[in-house]
Amino acid sequence: MGNYALQMKAITKEFPGVRALDNVTFSVRKGEIHALCGENGAGKSTLMKILSGVYPQGTYDGEILINGENVQFKSIKESQNAGVAIIYQELALVEEMTVAENLFLSHELMRAKIIDWNKIYAEAQKWLDHIGLDVDPQTIVRELTVGKQQLIEIAKALTRKTDILILDEPTAALTESDVDILMTLLNDLRKKGVTCIYISHKLGEVMALADSVTIIRDGQSVSTDSIEELSEEKIITKMVGRELTELFPYEVRVISRENIVDVKDYSVTNSVGKKVINNVSFTLKKGEILGFSGLMGAGRTELFISLFGGLKGNRTGTVLIDGQETNIKSPTDAIKNGLAYVSEDRKRYGLVLGMDITKNTTLAALNKMMKIKVIDNALEVKSAGDITYKMNLKAPNLEALVGQLSGGNQQKVVLSKWLLTNPKVLILDEPTRGIDVGAKYEIYKIINELANQGVGIVIISSELPEVLGMSDRIIVMAEGEITGEFLREEATQEKIMTCATGGKIS
Ligand SMILES: Nc1ncnc2c1ncn2[C@@H]1O[C@H](COP(=O)(O)OP(=O)(O)OP(=O)(O)O)[C@@H](O)[C@H]1O
Ligand SMILES: [Mg+2]
Repeated sequence: MGNYALQMKAITKEFPGVRALDNVTFSVRKGEIHALCGENGAGKSTLMKILSGVYPQGTYDGEILINGENVQFKSIKESQNAGVAIIYQELALVEEMTVAENLFLSHELMRAKIIDWNKIYAEAQKWLDHIGLDVDPQTIVRELTVGKQQLIEIAKALTRKTDILILDEPTAALTESDVDILMTLLNDLRKKGVTCIYISHKLGEVMALADSVTIIRDGQSVSTDSIEELSEEKIITKMVGRELTELFPYEVRVISRENIVDVKDYSVTNSVGKKVINNVSFTLKKGEILGFSGLMGAGRTELFISLFGGLKGNRTGTVLIDGQETNIKSPTDAIKNGLAYVSEDRKRYGLVLGMDITKNTTLAALNKMMKIKVIDNALEVKSAGDITYKMNLKAPNLEALVGQLSGGNQQKVVLSKWLLTNPKVLILDEPTRGIDVGAKYEIYKIINELANQGVGIVIISSELPEVLGMSDRIIVMAEGEITGEFLREEATQEKIMTCATGGKIS
């Protein structure tokens, strides 16, 4: 079979108490884009970590062939030398270093044994231009948004000789325009003969990009088909093992007329003197689902992090919660005022990876777990158990460390944690990023349920269908300002995109 770039045969991988992969077979033809689909926890990332040497030979059973030759990787380095590059679901950049340093980390361009910084910065610029990313190579990575960091990761993989490029949910953090950049890039690479393995929960992308699709379910390979034989519906059915007809369980509700949040003339100047939020005013009603749309960098995340007390800088304007003027200076103040904020960047703000599910889940609601000044462990375990059951969390047990859960299941722990605080206002920043279709549906149902109970809900999302499908009202932002507002009935993709790019709707 000379035309396979990769064959993985009878791969079995066990973690203590979990068989993550059970006799999986996976074959990828040379030069194709091959999508790997499956629900959260199905085993996609684990399979790719085996291929890339993260789990070295000897820690799994089975065989790997590259171009028909048996290979055995003892380390990531060895897989890289064989032309395999992986871009992880979790970002792996060194945040304290510059873009250029990250791009050439571990294979710095050497000139007579010293690092040639001029060359590194020039080369970095070339690669940034190549992928169409407008970022200064001297920028410290921490200062970039998650989306931009993701694109840097892709550029980084390309700086090496790569025959098999693995992308584990590369677009989860990207906005539509960045997704377009990536799609163009991958189509270019396909023309150059690079083989690409593409993991994504966004089935629209899979249909547009892939040549073939392999589906795994509960650690077993279900099928491999060429794209002509598939549709989004067929992929979903194979993934979840049943048909899923409805994607957005929106319910028409009677929304109270009482404002739970009232923000007036709110501006934020950040610590380096840049105005990041400019004179924003909006209200949120009890039981209302308010969508916030906009391109990456539009200021939506900054606005809500600032309202949540998490952004340094000078703020002006007024914020009323439940009719009371507030002065929220820290996330602790925010929680006291009934706000909950589910971050878009769960690794940075959401979770303690080395702690177990119970502790992570009850972290923000510890005051509710107290019995005469000590934490009531039984109550803690029960609360964590109830909420994670509701979220359909897949984990061996509640003592499992959060760092060992699949990406989508980690996101469910973050959501569970904030739901336990019984917030008056729930701010969800990219709540379903990386979450499979079945679980998304569960989360939407929970959002509806909370809205029905009178919680005011903000959904910040880069996925237009999600904003359109779930919101009662939609606000669009561009460059730190509100550029449009639509009721559910009047909103369309076109109108939102026009406002998001700074245009006016006449
Ligand atoms: N380091 C680990 N220790 C223990 N169990 C693990 C570890 N990594 C993954 N698992 C388990 O293996 C299974 C497969 O996880 P994996 O991360 O491969 O899923 P996935 O298909 O990538 O899901 P997602 O779409 O949520 O990213 C899950 O049950 C997960 O909890
Ligand atoms: Mg994964």
